[in-house]
Amino acid sequence: MDVAIIGFGTRGQYYAYLFKKRNVNVVAVCDSDLQKLQIAKNKYSVAGDRLFADEKEFFGKGKMADLLVVSTQDADHYGHAVQGLEIGYDLLLEKPIASDLKECIEIRDMSIQLNRKIFVCHVLRYAPFFTSLKKELESGKFGKVVTINMTENVSYWHQAHSYVRGSWRSAENSTPMIIAKCCHDLDIIVWLTNSDCEYVSSYGDLSYYKRENAPEGSADYCYDCRYIADCPYSADKIYIKDRAEKGRLNWPCNAVVPSPTTETLKAALKRGQYGKCVFKCDNDVVDHQVVNMRFINGATASLTMTAFGDHSRVIFVHCEKGELYGYLEENKIHCDIFGKEHYTIDTNSSKDVFSGHGGGDERMIEDVINATEGAQSSTLTSVAVSVQSHIIGFNAEKSRLDNGRSIKLSEQ
Ligand SMILES: NC(=O)c1ccc[n+]([C@@H]2O[C@H](COP(=O)([O-])OP(=O)(O)OC[C@H]3O[C@@H](n4cnc5c(N)ncnc54)[C@H](O)[C@@H]3O)[C@@H](O)[C@H]2O)c1
Repeated sequence: MDVAIIGFGTRGQYYAYLFKKRNVNVVAVCDSDLQKLQIAKNKYSVAGDRLFADEKEFFGKGKMADLLVVSTQDADHYGHAVQGLEIGYDLLLEKPIASDLKECIEIRDMSIQLNRKIFVCHVLRYAPFFTSLKKELESGKFGKVVTINMTENVSYWHQAHSYVRGSWRSAENSTPMIIAKCCHDLDIIVWLTNSDCEYVSSYGDLSYYKRENAPEGSADYCYDCRYIADCPYSADKIYIKDRAEKGRLNWPCNAVVPSPTTETLKAALKRGQYGKCVFKCDNDVVDHQVVNMRFINGATASLTMTAFGDHSRVIFVHCEKGELYGYLEENKIHCDIFGKEHYTIDTNSSKDVFSGHGGGDERMIEDVINATEGAQSSTLTSVAVSVQSHIIGFNAEKSRLDNGRSIKLSEQ
């Protein structure tokens, strides 16, 4: 099996690494940034005539591999997915499927008409924490899921990196926060409730990362600012002190510069986008949002997304005969069947890999290889199932913009 990749940024390069680790060759790469093409050539030995800076030339060559990875930015997914499908590729498509709901549905329908596989990168379905939770629910011991409470604690620095300074700071240029960050969480909720959603409503705002909250006398860029040593959002702290100086030069440093070193990072931060004061950026996406859902099978769920928390997800699943709860980073599921002894499932087995979305990234790639090579017929994250989370997310955003109006999804 071999793969072609369009969008060789942080995700595209990570997938190249995961495929190569499993002896799957990266045979063609398209990225508009020449530095990224150089990385493809040096690290993955992609031949010179298979490196493309222009997407027209890339698609013009026709199908060059068994699978096309679409890991460009959100707003480009639709165009790249459609062109890939048209010339015969199956796709590993980064989430979100597309940057508006109509386009998501079109991509789903195209995959059916053309009989092409699309694997959506909803990697959390592969994290041992969530697969164990799903298995426990399927045992039947807990009865039917009645309600789910989930919190996505984005974390202050991750919010600053991606949603205040970074590529997802503008809903219009990328996607609304509830899709960009939380289509994963909505997808997990759909998977665990085992039902489609009927009603959704949502509230949320951008409350903190605004000019009016800038400390008095603060500068536009961290390296000019008197608060650089103490501010939790100091670019020097986030990228240099906490990461580069500790030898941690992968994400998020490689989103600032393609081949980060302490020196290249400092140079890029001085006057660059990631060195800007978080209170003085052109961001408009929310920093907190709640979504309420009612499912066709009667289950209810609520999702809270907040910038102001620790970096992880917390979930409570309340069922007719018991409850399960846990914190993704702890990798333990706490289980109570009513009237019985409490027990804990530890998913933190030492032979497992747990980096990259709680181990989900690696396992998804394994499943995609198996499904492409014919060892299995499907994966957990086909576009047909993944679209449901996007239907909820885009409608949650519609509701948020309409003061929390409840929206009936079957009327869409
Ligand atoms: N599955 C997950 O959990 C997860 C996590 C992070 C990001 N993502 C998604 O992955 C996608 C990529 O994110 P990223 O962090 O790698 O972004 P990135 O900005 O690092 O990478 C995007 C790349 O696309 C290139 N590009 C832009 N226009 C292009 C064009 N017309 N043709 C070819 N290349 C072009 C850019 O130069 C860049 O290298 C996004 O949609 C993001 O939402 C998913």
